[in-house]
Amino acid sequence: MTDTLTLRRPDDWHLHLRDGAALAAVLPHTAAQFARAIIMPNLKAPVTSTDLAAQYRERILAARPAGSRFEPLMTLYLTDNTSTEEIRKARASGFVHGCKLYPAGATTHSDAGVTDIRRIDAALEAMAEVGMPLQVHGEVTHADVDVFDRETRFIDEVLAPLRARLPTLRMVFEHVTTRSAVDFVRAQPQGVAATITPQHLTYNRNALFQGGIRPHYYCLPVLKRERDRTALLDAVLAGDARFFLGTDSAPHARGTKETACGCAGIYSAHAAMELYAEVFEDARALHRLPAFASEFGARFYGLPLNEDQVTLRREPLEIPAHYPYGDDVLVPLRAGERLRWRLA
Ligand code: NCD
Ligand code: ZN
Repeated sequence: MTDTLTLRRPDDWHLHLRDGAALAAVLPHTAAQFARAIIMPNLKAPVTSTDLAAQYRERILAARPAGSRFEPLMTLYLTDNTSTEEIRKARASGFVHGCKLYPAGATTHSDAGVTDIRRIDAALEAMAEVGMPLQVHGEVTHADVDVFDRETRFIDEVLAPLRARLPTLRMVFEHVTTRSAVDFVRAQPQGVAATITPQHLTYNRNALFQGGIRPHYYCLPVLKRERDRTALLDAVLAGDARFFLGTDSAPHARGTKETACGCAGIYSAHAAMELYAEVFEDARALHRLPAFASEFGARFYGLPLNEDQVTLRREPLEIPAHYPYGDDVLVPLRAGERLRWRLA
């Protein structure tokens, strides 16, 4: 039995850092584990321009713990009005590494998102032209589509036609949750990858209802069936370079989760690598973790691999019941439990 695993410092290819006091509360967790992270742009006033991304980036850099060299990789939030000039400006900036498609109404702070993909044809064409990756929240939002089918319907109605129209547009299918998403990504000859969260590798939708309703297991896309979870696991266990780490760590104050209409989002930044290590170990595939966490994502984004290393040790890690979060607290994934791995 392996008791230590040393790997290149990993990166998180899908992360929510929020802003202000929340940013200050959560950034130290990510900065302690990861060298870089793709920063989601869904702030309350979304990050829709290169100038806003530059300002947000400065606030993140200023919130880093002393001595940290953590590098935020910024993204733009696409709207119906994103111009081709903005795409070119973002590309030229050097610090914007993708543009995020939120279908309007699909998730937290997506009201300003895209109402119909055909409205952003010009922006997407410009992205393909300048080599700017598209990050996709892949869910349709029609009221008549079952919430558990939203990802699969999105593939048929939006993603596959987009691929056919613009085969040169590189895209990351974010936080994939279904067998159909895994199949879709696998069927693409090149230019399409996917991020996978710790929760979607670990749990099926039963977790939402274990002995009562469990708001801390609620995220979007929502947890799916066991056969979907095993499809995700198979994809990463095969060592397929198109599937890489993206926690989708999405902090929400306890009061906004434990309420009649709770927010979507699971917080995992406090123990991201430890959570992935447990899943990979349980599947007897710890040897697949280094490339998933530290190589595949960087290669897809055309960024250098990190040179320094981190070590995971088989040591108990106690997860607190909550962390401070502005005026409230934040309940992390596996709160009050003990994990088997610890990042040194
Ligand atoms: C995210 C958030 O809270 O910003 N929530 C979530 O459940 N994943 C938004 C998102 O990534 O969909
Ligand atoms: Zn997210």
